[in-house]
Amino acid sequence: EGVTSLQLNINGAARTIQAEPRVTLLDALREYLDLTGTKKGCDHGQCGACTVLVDGKRINSCLTLAVMQQGKQITTIEGLAKGDALHPMQEAFIKHDGFQCGYCTPGQIMSGVACVQEGHATTDAQCREWMSGNLCRCGAYPNIVAAVREVAQ
Ligand code: FES
Repeated sequence: EGVTSLQLNINGAARTIQAEPRVTLLDALREYLDLTGTKKGCDHGQCGACTVLVDGKRINSCLTLAVMQQGKQITTIEGLAKGDALHPMQEAFIKHDGFQCGYCTPGQIMSGVACVQEGHATTDAQCREWMSGNLCRCGAYPNIVAAVREVAQ
C-alpha cells in the first residue's frame, strides 16, 4: 500500500500529511501532526478518549480513516481555547474538578461540547446518557456532569 497525500482541515488550518490510506484519524492527529491532546485509550471505539468534532458532530477518531475526513472541519481539544482564553467547557471542568488523572479529559470535554451544542444537557440523566461512551477510570462522573450541565445553563 502506497503513501498518499491527505489534506485535512484541523482547528481552522489546512494540514497536509503523507500517509498510507489506512491511517486512522486518531493516528493522523497524534503520530503525523503532533496533536497529542486527543488520547488513545482502547483504539476500538469503546472508551471515548479519542473523541473529536467533525463538522460539529462528535466522533471516535480511532474508528474513522483520515482519508474519509478530507474536506471536513475537524476540531480537537487544541482548537477549543481562543488564545489565552479557555473554552467555557474547559473552565467548567476546572471549576468542578471534572478530572483526576486527566487521561480521558480531552475526550470528555469534546463530548461535553457536543452535548451542549446538540441540546442533550437539559437534565443530569440526559447528560449522563449522552456522555456514557466516555469512560473515566477515576470515577469523576458526577463532577463531569456538573461541568457540562453548568455550561448548558
Ligand atoms: Fe477511540 Fe477508545 S481510543 S474509543
